[in-house]
Amino acid sequence: MLAAVGLRPYGALVLIAATVGAWALIVGPATLVAGAGQVNQVASLDTGRALYLQGCASCHGSAGQGTPNGPSIVDAGAAGADFELRTGRMPLAAPSLPEVRQPPAYDEAQIEALVAFVASLGNGPAIPDVVASVGDLARGRQIYIANCAACHGATGAGGTVGGGFVAPGLDLADPRTVAEATVVGPGPMPAFAFDRQQLDDLAAYVEELHHPPHPGGLPVAEVGPVAEGFLAFFVGIVTLVAVARWTGRAPR
Ligand code: HEC
Ligand code: HEC
Repeated sequence: MLAAVGLRPYGALVLIAATVGAWALIVGPATLVAGAGQVNQVASLDTGRALYLQGCASCHGSAGQGTPNGPSIVDAGAAGADFELRTGRMPLAAPSLPEVRQPPAYDEAQIEALVAFVASLGNGPAIPDVVASVGDLARGRQIYIANCAACHGATGAGGTVGGGFVAPGLDLADPRTVAEATVVGPGPMPAFAFDRQQLDDLAAYVEELHHPPHPGGLPVAEVGPVAEGFLAFFVGIVTLVAVARWTGRAPR
């Protein structure tokens, strides 16, 4: 094949080198040096900006500066945006609605693009690193009881916190959401400055709360001892009455 076009093997190499060189001159040296990662980031920043202008700017302003419909998010950071978007709190359908957890409105790639764009608006916190599997349950429990249980309940079931606010149950919160919530402090929840180890411990404990041990036997949908006791009483009394009536029937 090479022989057919009259080229020796090294001739082909020269040809390839010349082609690459010409391409580099045309597209410019920067692109070659930048590498795929950076090109991707530019692409997702553009996608993020487009999504933001469409879905968020009407309330938060075109540069995140805020409007009468929504607060400034210049310093919400990747952590703030990721938390709000993954838990479906944002976008709000109307400015006066409360933030609630719901299925996310965007897919994974769109969330990443929006998060990159919001992070680029200012100097907000990054998404915290957290690995629940290396956390210590005993330390996590201490941190949880001291800082979170007052609002979210000792079992993570949630509760009212006054001022018309409700601390949600933590059953849907994965380690990333837990860590982000402590960094962000959404709504009436305070922000906490935990270190990496404390975040791992805390996340491990919240994971444990998702699957609590049941030393007393069947949990009966986790409704608590009164309902469980009632169920035991009800089943027991019906059985006893049935047995009593059956054995006590007079012979004819
Ligand atoms: C209809 C208006 C509206 C739209 C649309 C909207 N937001 Fe919001 N956003 C709000 C309001 C109001 C708050 C404050 C809510 C609160 O504190 O309970 C808020 C809060 C936030 C926060 C937390 C700010 C903080 O400092 O606590 C972030 C981050 C955020 N929005 C990002 C977004 C993103 C990203 C989008 C687009 C996908 C979006 N929002 C769309 C109205 C809106
Ligand atoms: C003063 C009460 C209060 C304290 C203390 C508190 N939280 Fe919260 N937390 C809230 C409220 C209220 C919300 C809902 C905020 C919103 O939606 O705007 C919330 C939201 C969350 C969420 C999001 C849940 C979801 O599924 O969307 C997580 C996770 C969370 N808190 C974890 C924690 C952890 C961990 C601690 C302890 C380090 C803690 N909170 C301490 C009140 C509190």
